[in-house]
Amino acid sequence: MTDSYAVIGNPITHSLSPRIHAAFAAQTAQDIVYKTILGEAGAFPATVTQFRQAGGKGLNVTLPFKHEAFELATRHSERAQLAGAVNTLSFDDSEIAGDNTDGVGLLHDIAQNLNFDVRDKRVLLLGAGGASFGVVGPLLALPLQSLTIANRTVSKAVALRARFSAHANVDCCGYDALKGRQFELVINATSAGLSGAMPALPDDVFAPGALAYDMVYGKTTPFMQFAQARGARAADGLGMLVEQAAESFYIWRRVRPQTAPVIALLRGAAS
Ligand code: ATR
Repeated sequence: MTDSYAVIGNPITHSLSPRIHAAFAAQTAQDIVYKTILGEAGAFPATVTQFRQAGGKGLNVTLPFKHEAFELATRHSERAQLAGAVNTLSFDDSEIAGDNTDGVGLLHDIAQNLNFDVRDKRVLLLGAGGASFGVVGPLLALPLQSLTIANRTVSKAVALRARFSAHANVDCCGYDALKGRQFELVINATSAGLSGAMPALPDDVFAPGALAYDMVYGKTTPFMQFAQARGARAADGLGMLVEQAAESFYIWRRVRPQTAPVIALLRGAAS
């Protein structure tokens, strides 16, 4: 019998997740269907319940419902607990299991696809909104030299750090305070790129050989252009999207798909 999955969000029309999961299913000979569901404000729990009652096995959850998905889950993985947000729901007879694969997706992309070793590096995370919540826990599980969270509104960075009391050695600051400091990995988790803007970074923020990673995908953002013009290597978030999907697929199917051919497929289709 074919198992049914979907991604729920708003907007959702341009989601690449159905293509990614269809490619994973073909590659691993899994009998699944995967569709999109447009979530309406105020109706998220009802829509999820309806999908589950119709036999749905699991959902990916994207903006703006990751916090509501966390609330709806009856059991949370440790990384979902740390993030306070859920992007993967799995249903069985009695429980709704919530997980968060965003952080591990980012780190897999950086390590495996971009061949960048984050150990002992100075890491700068830009932004303290939803996209940052999923990645701080997995970053702190690594032996970094340091982690700095910079945000326009410094109090939001401080509130994010407070979730990780065991890791109080995270430095929080505004963009001005970055002057004179360098980092080997700079991750842009702000939503600035969506509106053609970027955080106000100093010119010399990239250490030699630095990687500049933008979680936005599908275009070269102002942040990526800024980084390239200053000699850094720049990457968009397409690989993270595919890697977080692969981790969800593994949670649901217990089979690990190969991501490189799917990333290549999507890049080929985009060019
Ligand atoms: P969400 O939770 O949906 O990600 P959010 O909480 O508004 O949305 O977070 C968006 C992030 O992008 C925030 O870190 C925001 O900075 P502030 O907290 O200071 O608002 C950041 N951001 C958005 N536009 C930006 C811009 N033009 N320059 C710098 N940071 C920006």
